[in-house]
Amino acid sequence: MKTQDMNRDWITTAETLSRALPYMQRYSGAIVVIKLGGHAMGSDEGMASFARDVVLMQQVGANPVIVHGGGPMINAMLERLDIKSDFVNGKRVTDAPTMEVVEMVLSGLVNKRIVQAIGAQGGRAVGLSGKDANLVTCTQTDPALGFVGTPSVVDPSILQDLFQSNTIPVIAPLGAGHDGETFNINGDTAAGAIAGALNADRLLLLTDVAGVKNGEGEVLTELTAAQIRALTADGTIAGGMIPKTETALNAIENGVRAVVILDGRVPNACLLELFTDHGAGSLIRD
Ligand SMILES: Nc1ncnc2c1ncn2[C@@H]1O[C@H](COP(=O)(O)OP(=O)(O)OP(=O)(O)O)[C@@H](O)[C@H]1O
Ligand SMILES: [Mg+2]
Repeated sequence: MKTQDMNRDWITTAETLSRALPYMQRYSGAIVVIKLGGHAMGSDEGMASFARDVVLMQQVGANPVIVHGGGPMINAMLERLDIKSDFVNGKRVTDAPTMEVVEMVLSGLVNKRIVQAIGAQGGRAVGLSGKDANLVTCTQTDPALGFVGTPSVVDPSILQDLFQSNTIPVIAPLGAGHDGETFNINGDTAAGAIAGALNADRLLLLTDVAGVKNGEGEVLTELTAAQIRALTADGTIAGGMIPKTETALNAIENGVRAVVILDGRVPNACLLELFTDHGAGSLIRD
């Protein structure tokens, strides 16, 4: 690259940083809960870039909280171990042997991969699941689905402690039952419950699509509760998008200011959303 071009590059970077100042001021002290979907987790390079964004967010004064999914990783491990599952209405039944794999993959492999990536970018992260410090207690969602839980009590005090010590919490979506069971929670549902308990300023749901699409396949940049209900009723919002939009509505009701569903595979997706006026994805707010 010629010196002149390099100079222009640096000037552009400085200009961009300068324009981000009002956004940085807005998010100073703000709690931002980010759900990183298993489907949004790609290469090591993508993970490093995500981790760098999270560390930067903290550097400018925000309190990021990561909640992750891991569907594809769980499926791969069940296949490797040759554990067969039953399905009810297209949903996997989480029996006891499946639950063991879910916990090992989420709390072990996926959680630690994110923690390590943040550490490698000079951040300080701690991995936990809903079981740690009584963060998330669950009741069984539906006996037909086995060990799948719905959060009933969230105690976010451990997260406040971690904010105080500049530590980024990375949370696997598992919860303890009232009788000592372990429950698997949908990652979006867990992130929403935690964001609600923290009264978070923003909840970002990072996935593998650009946002919530209408019947024509166009991304809806802003969504109302009425639109979500209509699109769900006619089947346009389906599968993995259902817990996201449900979570968004519940989170808003519980005091979260805004929820954004966006493509986590886009480089710097979180920074684009938080620190520029180029809003990405679908925004749901009250
Ligand atoms: N109306 C819709 N607009 C956009 N995506 C939709 C819609 N209806 C269904 N989907 C599906 O929802 C999927 C996203 O949810 P999914 O559960 O697969 O991913 P995730 O939550 O990011 O990952 P994980 O569940 O592993 O954490 C999209 O890939 C898409 O196929
Ligand atoms: Mg999902």
